[in-house]
Order: sequence, then C-alpha cells, then structure tokens
Amino acid sequence: MLKQIIRPASTVSGSVEVPGDKSISHRYAILAALAEGSSEITHFSAAADCRSTLDCLSHLGVKIEAKDDSVRIAGAGLDGLRKTRRALDAGNSGTTMRLLSGILSGQTFRSALDGDASLRRRPMRRVMDPLSKMGARIKARDGGFAPLEIDGTRLSPIEYTLPVPSAQVKSAVLLAGLFADGVTTVVEPVRTRDHTELALAEFGAQVGHEGRRICIHGRPHLKGRALAVPGDLSSAVFFLAAALVLPDSNVVIHNVGLNPTRSAILDVLGTMGATISLVSIRSEHGELVGDVAVRHSPIQGGTIEGDVIAQLIDELPAIAALGPYTEQGIEIRNAAELRVKESDRVAVLAENLRRMGAKVEERADGLRIAGRSAGRLHGVEIDPHGDHRMAMAFAVAALGAEGETIIQNADCAAVSYPDFFSTLERLLER
Ligand code: S3P
Repeated sequence: MLKQIIRPASTVSGSVEVPGDKSISHRYAILAALAEGSSEITHFSAAADCRSTLDCLSHLGVKIEAKDDSVRIAGAGLDGLRKTRRALDAGNSGTTMRLLSGILSGQTFRSALDGDASLRRRPMRRVMDPLSKMGARIKARDGGFAPLEIDGTRLSPIEYTLPVPSAQVKSAVLLAGLFADGVTTVVEPVRTRDHTELALAEFGAQVGHEGRRICIHGRPHLKGRALAVPGDLSSAVFFLAAALVLPDSNVVIHNVGLNPTRSAILDVLGTMGATISLVSIRSEHGELVGDVAVRHSPIQGGTIEGDVIAQLIDELPAIAALGPYTEQGIEIRNAAELRVKESDRVAVLAENLRRMGAKVEERADGLRIAGRSAGRLHGVEIDPHGDHRMAMAFAVAALGAEGETIIQNADCAAVSYPDFFSTLERLLER
C-alpha cells in the first residue's frame, strides 16, 4: 500500500497526454465484443476499471489481445457470449457492473456479477428495475447490492424514464435494447454523457436521438471497427486544477475528449476566471477531441448546482480541492449522487479538507468550502478511502499547502490513472 508524499510546489508546467477516456474505453470494448469481425482500439484506457471490463469479456469467451495501450478484440457477435463458471469480477468499476448487467440480461444463460467492497456498497436497484421490466430476473444481496445473479432471457423493449440522471443506467438499458425485439426508448430528463449513443452508431446500430428521448432498434448487426480513444478529461482536470492552484503555471493537455456532455467543467472554470484555451479541435468517431491549454489565473469560485451537476459529476472532487484557493470559496449543491460513488465523496472531501485546515460545511447534497480568506492549508495524512479521485484531488490540494502531505494507499489512483503521481511530479517545479 503506497504512501505518496506530496511536497508543496511553486508551479506546474509542461505538456502531457492523459490515458484514454475510461467511459469510452468500456463502451468500445463491450460493443467490439458483440460485433462481427475484429476491432482494433488504440489509446485504450490504462485504468484498472477498464481492465475489469476486458477480463469479464474474456471470461464470457471473447478473444482479446492487449499490448501497451492497444487492444484487439475478436467480436463474438450478438449471440456469441458463453456462460461462465464463476461470478464475473467487476472490481471497483460501477460502469463495468452496470453496463454488463444490460448485456447479461439479454443472454440465454444465468450469470453472476460481483465486485470489491466499495462496489458491493453501491446501488444496483437503479439498473435492476428497468432490466426486470424488460424481462430479466435479477437477484441481488439485500434487494439491491452486488453480488448480482442475472437470469437472462429474450428481452422485451420498454420505454424508460430515468429517475436519476445516470449515464450508466441509460447505457444498461440501451445495451439491453440490442437484445430486445423492437425499439427500446430511454427518456433522460437531465442530459448525461452520450458516449454509448455515439459508440452504438459507430458500430452500426440504429440509434435515434430526439430531444430527451433516445431510441435503439434491437438485434442489429454490429460491425468490428478500428477506433482511437480520446484522452480522459476527468483525468486531465487534476492538472487543470493544479495549474489554477499554483501561480505562473502553464499546462497543455493533448488529445483530450471534449464531448459537450463532458466538457461543462471547462465552462464552469472559465466562468470562475480560469484562462483555458482549446486548440486543434476535431471530431473522431463522433467524439470531439482537442488540446486544452490552461494558464494560472486567480479563481473567483462560486456555486455549482442544478442540471450541470450530472455533466461534471466526476470533476467535482478536483473542483472541491480548488475551493480553498479561490477568492470566494466554492459551493456544490444538488450533488447527492457524490455520496454513492467509489466512496461517499461528500463525506471524504469534507473530512480530509477539514483536516488540512479548510473551513467546510457538509450538506446532504453537497458542501461549501471557504476560500483563501479562511487561511492556508497545511499538510496532513490523507485517507482517500480507496477512492482514486479522492487520492488525486488531495494531491492537488496539497500542492499549495504548508508542509508535506501524505496520501495513504495512493495506489488506488490506478483505478483510473496508474501513472498519475509520476506524471504530476514530472510537471512540478519547486
Ligand atoms: C459513467 C457515468 C457516471 C460517472 C462514472 C462513469 C459512465 O456515473 O460518474 O464515473 O461511464 O457512464 P453515473 O452514471 O452513475 O452517474
């Protein structure tokens, strides 16, 4: 269990490329597995979470060769997955468990999905409900937690309105829709990331998008493809935040995903005073990609609330770490979903920020973090509660603190970004 020491720094400068987007990598791997013919996916995420998806697919009989950040997947076709002897292990990955639940619901065999202690605490009722309506029989521990036992069947199409804004739930239903006879519709009252819709179209499925309604036609012939994954903006955000913490910083992040359902973080930081520019913007496989440059500038802070929360849910830890370095502080509201992520992120952020000396008010659906006038942070031992984004957020908060910070069990960062600490260290000047 690695203890990572973060010493205060004066600036962060240089250029960096972050690992492939985690959300997109999961989706490309799953669709490649269900396609006919082989797919070659480059810049595939290095995240342990995406490794969990590849391992589950291999256990389901899909032939996968991974070398560096390229993955070749021999598609098994829509009906080519095979029953496994043991429960599939989704590790720490909610996306793996929820998206695969959709696929497994449409199989003719029974399967089981399990995960680590954190994943076993995360709510699965939200996928069980719509998938049961489509005809799958799903048993869960205490009615809603992993391990899950899924009795797949020939599914019926449904129209389903998402009760919580969740791209994972939307995706589970759309992926199950591949196995249904007819058209499955998901209505999302609040827009969430649309990588599944874009990836389905790339692989040749018939997906329609009209306002808040997304439709998928069942039983398509998916075709294997060559695809490149853009860099993960949710990983890049830690470098953006670091540059806003440390004066005179200048960072460029190349080839980052800028999908409009993910890039709200850039607008929010811009509104707060960040100097961010986007260059070389292009579209690859339906996804926007470009370079993001950030220069240090004073950040006002402010309130983040309402529908935008769903579009920057994974960036909120980095924003919270920036809170004590802003002029007015940062308030996050309507973000109760943060409490059911890899850890209870509201509680873990509040606990550790307070221990560093920040003034924090914790609320049921968010938190308020006082700005600069509350005083400088000081280095302490941080417990990230096994949550990758907590480990990385506190590394950022530590950069401007007085004295050393120690992040306990910092290897949990590998869940999304295995080389995060060495990359950060390379960019720092002291
Ligand atoms: C993800 C969706 C979000 C996000 C997670 C990845 C995805 O979760 O927090 O890190 O790939 O669909 P929810 O769908 O639970 O909001």
